Amino acid sequence: MKSKVIGVLTSGGDAPGMNAAVRAVTRAAIANGHKVKAIYHGYQGLINGEIEDFTTESVSGIISRGGTILKTARCRDFTSIEGQTKAYEQLKKAGIDSLICIGGNGTLTGALEFAAEFDDVQCIGIPATIDNDINGTDETIGYDTTLNTIMDCVDKIRDTAASHERIFFVEVMGRDAGWLAQSSAIACGAEAAIVPEEQTNVDQLAQYIEKGIRKSKNSSIVIVSESPDCGAMHYAERVTKEYPEFDVRVSILGHMQRGGSPTAHDRIIASALGAFAVQAIEEGQHNVMVGISNGEFVYVPLAKAIKVQDKSDKTLLDLVKTLSN
Ligand code: F6P
Repeated sequence: MKSKVIGVLTSGGDAPGMNAAVRAVTRAAIANGHKVKAIYHGYQGLINGEIEDFTTESVSGIISRGGTILKTARCRDFTSIEGQTKAYEQLKKAGIDSLICIGGNGTLTGALEFAAEFDDVQCIGIPATIDNDINGTDETIGYDTTLNTIMDCVDKIRDTAASHERIFFVEVMGRDAGWLAQSSAIACGAEAAIVPEEQTNVDQLAQYIEKGIRKSKNSSIVIVSESPDCGAMHYAERVTKEYPEFDVRVSILGHMQRGGSPTAHDRIIASALGAFAVQAIEEGQHNVMVGISNGEFVYVPLAKAIKVQDKSDKTLLDLVKTLSN
C-alpha cells in the first residue's frame, strides 16, 4: 500500500475526546507507515498554512485532556471558493494527500464542500461535538462527557433546590438539538425537559410542577435547552409571573459543559474512530464520516451525516414524564 501524508485538524466547538482522536489518528497512521501533519486552528489555520509534522511523541499525555491541543476556530473564509482554494494550495505545498477533519456539523459541512471542489484530496470526517446532532452515528465524541458534567452540576443544584424548596430552570447547551437536555433530564431525575423540537405550554409545565409539589416533592428541576429567545430565563420569568407562589431560580451552565477530562467512554470511542479514519484512508474511501451504528463501525457519506435529522427522541421525552410522576 502506498504511504500517505495525512493532515489532521479539529474545527468548530471543541469537545472532550478530540485529543484522544488526534492521538489515535497520529499513532495509527504512523504505525501503518504513513506521515502525519497537524493543522492548527481548524480550517482557518489550513488557509494560513499553520501546519506541523507530528510524531508519536507529539501526542504523548493528551488522552486525558479536554479541549483540543490543535486549537480550533469557526471559519467563515473556508465557506468561499477563494478560501478553499487557498486551503488546497497549502495542502499541496505540505504534500498532504488525505485530510481527517474532527468536529461537528459545520466541520463536516466544510469537508463536504471542500471535497466537492478538490476531489484529489481524500476527506474523512470524525464526529466530535457535545450536541450529538450528527446523522448515521449512534453518538458523537464529547457527548458522554458533557452529559456527565451536566449530571454532576444538577446533582449539586438539587441539594440547594431541595433545601430551599425551589424550582430551578437549568439551561444546557445543544444548539438546536435537544439530546443533551432530554438525556440529562433522565440522568438527573428532572421533573421536566424542554427541548427545541417540542412546543412547551407554560400552563402544562406549571401544573406538572405543582402536581409534583402536592405529592410532597419539595423541589423541581426543569432542564431547558439553550435558545436565543426561549431559554431558561424565558420559562422562569413566565412561571414566576403566572404562579408567584413558586420560588424560582435559574442556572445557566454555559461553557463549563464543554470542558473537562473526557470520560472513559469518550476516550474509547475517540480512539477507535481515530484509528478507523486511518483505515478509511487506506481503503480509498472519499468524503465519508466514520461512525458507530448499532455497535458496528460504519462509513457514512458526509452528505448524509450533516442532513437535518429528527433531533429529539420522543421515547426519551416520554420517559422523563413517566419517571417524574
Ligand atoms: O456546538 C457546540 C456548542 O457548544 C453548542 O452547544 C453551542 O450552541 C455552541 O457550541 C456555542 O458556541 P460558541 O462557543 O462558539 O459560543
